[in-house]
Amino acid sequence: MAGGYRIELAWDQVPDDWQTYASALFGLANANSRDWVGYHDRTRGGRRLAAFDGERLTGVLFVGAGALTKAFVESALGAAHSPEARYRLLAGRASGVQEGPGPLVCSCFCVGANTIAKAIASGCASVEFVGETLKAGTNCGSCRSEIRMMLEEQIHEQSSQQRAPQTV
Ligand code: FES
Repeated sequence: MAGGYRIELAWDQVPDDWQTYASALFGLANANSRDWVGYHDRTRGGRRLAAFDGERLTGVLFVGAGALTKAFVESALGAAHSPEARYRLLAGRASGVQEGPGPLVCSCFCVGANTIAKAIASGCASVEFVGETLKAGTNCGSCRSEIRMMLEEQIHEQSSQQRAPQTV
């Protein structure tokens, strides 16, 4: 994909040090040579780490629920992110405000990530429903896994917001 690589991993041992593990995965000689932000979801066991060279995102590791979408990786990897915006990346969203259709997800029907995200936010709760609404995913089907990940991410995000402590 443009700008980098997205890979999926499976293994039977949990690394002792996630930052060292991510550093090796990203091809960094020394984990301390980068700025890092991280998040540990103790409830679900997930971890998220992002490495920066200055303001440029050079690697991001999501473990557990909330897979990274291709659209996210293409828009965020290699781009500059201010220190204040870095934690938004750990939610799987680019740090800048993105207008228009967003990075292309469905090339058969030229449907972007922002368009799909809006459809999901408006109530399209399945890949099939997104297809009925936008046509995305209804031809070759190669984008269906990407759309499914966007749906899962949105569901995870909504359930996290519902669990968040309320202030009165
Ligand atoms: S890329 Fe979406 S249906 Fe072909």
